[in-house]
Amino acid sequence: MKVKKAIIPAAGLGTRFLPITKAVPKPMLPVFDKPTIQYIAEELRRAGIEELIIVVGPDSEVIMRHFGAAPELEKRLLSDGKQKLYEIEQATCSFNVKFAIQKEANGLAGAILCAEEYIGDEPFALLLGDELIYAADGEQSCMERLLEIYEKTGKSVIATMEVFGDDVSKYGNIGVKSEENGVMQVDAIVEKPTIAEALSNYAIIGRYVLAGGIMSRLKALKPRNNEIYLTDVLDELAEKGELSASTFNGVRYDVGDKLGFVKANIEYALMSAETGEDVKNYLKELAEKL
Ligand code: UTP
Repeated sequence: MKVKKAIIPAAGLGTRFLPITKAVPKPMLPVFDKPTIQYIAEELRRAGIEELIIVVGPDSEVIMRHFGAAPELEKRLLSDGKQKLYEIEQATCSFNVKFAIQKEANGLAGAILCAEEYIGDEPFALLLGDELIYAADGEQSCMERLLEIYEKTGKSVIATMEVFGDDVSKYGNIGVKSEENGVMQVDAIVEKPTIAEALSNYAIIGRYVLAGGIMSRLKALKPRNNEIYLTDVLDELAEKGELSASTFNGVRYDVGDKLGFVKANIEYALMSAETGEDVKNYLKELAEKL
């Protein structure tokens, strides 16, 4: 079955990034001139997925406003002859987005379940709202890669990146049973392992394609510490041989982490046709003083 829908969970508390996340949801943090979540919507469009379900917290109407129409602003831009800015505004509200509310931030699996009415038992893409994956034009993006693998195998597939040293303990880690043409068969998952416990150097990152039936599996899970965990479903899939993984082309930015946020902003500003040269010159001047 073709994947037509995606869930973007954007309802976390973002405590690592306080105080800005007190009033601004983490996926609305800007990277250069757009909020992170808009890059994610663009990544999905590029991969051919047009229906987005964004899971927002009860106080996150700013995300809804961002993707909604702004007739007064549009009228003003047109009457002032600001055609380019009008087109930018139009592009922002051109996505097919539905919103689901997560009343209490009770974890990623809880956020996914809030989107159940839109997904039922269909397969879906899952993209964490605070991670950016840049792919150059003409390069296969991470989401395109996952969809290609899903369409070939019919199995759930997760994106991974290679990590080394202490970084291994910051992410979910996979056991690799076999590998063919860059597609790994996953046979186990460990959450944030010590270096000794790690099963491989592959860390799970925030891009997934989950096969049909995942919502039912999530609902059937027994809570641990009063929460259900996506990892428990991934574990089940791995044990049954129903989970694949792949690395990807491109660069990942963890915008929810302060250093990751700064790196993303510098690199996107450098890539911009508008500011790239000026930012490069500024960075060179700055580097000489450091
Ligand atoms: P994180 O675990 O990075 O986000 O979730 P967090 O809980 O907001 O951040 P910290 O750790 O307190 O700083 C990854 C993604 O899942 C969403 C977040 O918004 C983020 O996009 N999420 C997380 C939800 O939608 N609901 C939740 O209950 C938890």
